[in-house]
Amino acid sequence: MTVSVKSPKRIQGSVEAPSDKSISHRAVIFNALAKGNSVIQNFSASADCMSTVRCLRQLGAQIITSNTNKLSHNYTRTLRVTGFGENGISEPANVLNAGNSGTTMRLLMGVLATHEINSVLTGDHSLRSRPMIREIRALRGLGAQIWARGDRSLPPISIKGERLSGGHYTMPEASAQLKSTLLLAGLRSEKSVTIDQPHISRDHSERMLAAMGASITANGLQLTINPGLIQATDISVPGDISSASFWLALGLCHPDSEVTVRNVNINPSRAGFLQVIEEMGGTIRITNHTTQSGEPIADITTSSSSLSATVVEGSMIPLLIDELPILALMACFSKGTTVIKDASSLRVKETDRIFTTTHELRKMGANIQETADGMVITGITSLHGATTSSHGDHRLAMTLGVAGMLAKGDTTIAYPDSTRISYPGFWDDLEIIAPGALFSNER
Ligand code: S3P
Repeated sequence: MTVSVKSPKRIQGSVEAPSDKSISHRAVIFNALAKGNSVIQNFSASADCMSTVRCLRQLGAQIITSNTNKLSHNYTRTLRVTGFGENGISEPANVLNAGNSGTTMRLLMGVLATHEINSVLTGDHSLRSRPMIREIRALRGLGAQIWARGDRSLPPISIKGERLSGGHYTMPEASAQLKSTLLLAGLRSEKSVTIDQPHISRDHSERMLAAMGASITANGLQLTINPGLIQATDISVPGDISSASFWLALGLCHPDSEVTVRNVNINPSRAGFLQVIEEMGGTIRITNHTTQSGEPIADITTSSSSLSATVVEGSMIPLLIDELPILALMACFSKGTTVIKDASSLRVKETDRIFTTTHELRKMGANIQETADGMVITGITSLHGATTSSHGDHRLAMTLGVAGMLAKGDTTIAYPDSTRISYPGFWDDLEIIAPGALFSNER
């Protein structure tokens, strides 16, 4: 299975941002645990979010899905969720399979460890190679009984759930997944759970839990959650900035372009990419600001720009962690040497993204070096078409799709369908933004 793309002469297009993956996971997990009924609109029908729905159903959740929004190509669903409320979840009759989704596995670990049931969580080949040591250490610190494979605590994960004592945990690195695992555990512990974070990471869990009536307080980087039942709350999921970033980068790097992505979540704890675009001198317009289910959204337009190199490091990394592969591509079109560091967590994403991004962009002529915790990229390089592979990683497939639209000659991408993990309509939207650029589609 491959697709082939080439560079269009001109790009002028506008698409709706696909629904946010992180918010969709949280909306359905939190509402399944809550008291009452809810409707979730614009739920992302990406493979990852549907893995969460599947696992929750195995735990006894009543989730009715309807209404694929085919018009927008964005593959959304409306979900009607009946919360478990006081009853809590049921013991699953089979192993829970999180597919490719680290968020599904990690957030559910926090749920399963605090309910009096036994469960086993597994995933696909990629997820079974991703360490769960951070979550296991943290949950054990609160008293959880939880086991995994080998030194790095690889899945399958086995959990003997019980009410945990609660307590205090200092996170070794900023991670919204780890933070959310702990917050979920805190909802059903005997006493409160307090979390110290080294830096800010995406705060969708905190916002949503507070809106659902959880007793959660923030004191600088410290969060405390008290046990209690949350109330079902209707949610309309906004657009995903991580998915939007591919089109925004295309708009900046193509020599004759203007691209608009509508309804993008610009929550500051997610919007590091926008800050970096400004630092690099990109032409960007953010308009139509509104709020959707407690998250700030806007339309974003980028156009052809002369970009300059930058350094991305430290507390900025968690604010754009999933945008680093596309940022590496932008750096190829920027004057000077861009350095990305403090990003060793990229090595344990769906693939080792430091290796896969470097390896694939080099095939196209990029001047890019791997470091232990990041990448060093020197621009301005003109890329040439090549035969590339996504390695089954959705964000790499999309980075290579954009790279092909910026390169001279034809680019073929193997395993293009991995985009279904977060952005099932990616190749459809590519044809809307640049008709004809996708000239061979054997998916
Ligand atoms: C996510 C958090 C990030 C991100 C992942 C989704 C989330 O992971 O890479 O795609 O929904 O909380 P970490 O928090 O582990 O960095």
